[in-house]
Amino acid sequence: MIVAANFKMNKTRKETEEYLKELKTIDFQDVKVAVFPPFTALMEDELIGAQNAYPAKNGAYTGEIGLEQLDEFGIKRVLLGHSERRHILNETQEFIAKKFSFYKECGFEIYYCVGEPLEVRKKGINAVIDYIKTQFEGIDLEYENLVVAYEPVWAIGTGVSAGRDEIKETHQSIRELTKRPILYGGSVKLNNIGEILKIPNVDGVLVGSASLDVEVFKEMINKAKEIKK
Ligand code: 13P
Repeated sequence: MIVAANFKMNKTRKETEEYLKELKTIDFQDVKVAVFPPFTALMEDELIGAQNAYPAKNGAYTGEIGLEQLDEFGIKRVLLGHSERRHILNETQEFIAKKFSFYKECGFEIYYCVGEPLEVRKKGINAVIDYIKTQFEGIDLEYENLVVAYEPVWAIGTGVSAGRDEIKETHQSIRELTKRPILYGGSVKLNNIGEILKIPNVDGVLVGSASLDVEVFKEMINKAKEIKK
């Protein structure tokens, strides 16, 4: 079971340090925990991953960070393809696939996000899977360090997670494409994490806003510990 926190553009370096210290007061047991803070809070810590990275070691890419900056902190984990980067920062599938290939070559653990907007969901599961397949273009779904995160765009930050049946059928369909772990993300909270983690083919969760409170996130990990699959 994987429980991951995506801070997005929240928290400072100092707050992240305090967060990690508090987080580590509990025993994770079999739960694998990952934390993705903003760039300014990257630090040498086995829980930390980057929310994004440019596909190059270094160079003339203003505003970006690459392999050299991640190496400084021994970071070997990166989140790619998040819907906020696809939609707000206009990242194309081609560019995301380039990042994927680069960080795959570097042996990184890649948390790779996919998910459909509401108008696609309204058309039904076949449309959803066709859409997700376009987000898998150029992505090696057999990569040993891949973790897929299914995050329906309409469930992110809305307080309304996808329903059990929607998660079940979507994860089932993604499972037919990859054997790697599949996380669900989108309004995962303390009051729904238990139910979500019990759904077949859900191997963990990627948590946004609810992860910002370390006490809540610790409780979420404790709930994940109880689920045996
Ligand atoms: P919320 O948990 O705030 O809906 O965000 C989910 C997400 O985008 C995690 O990457």
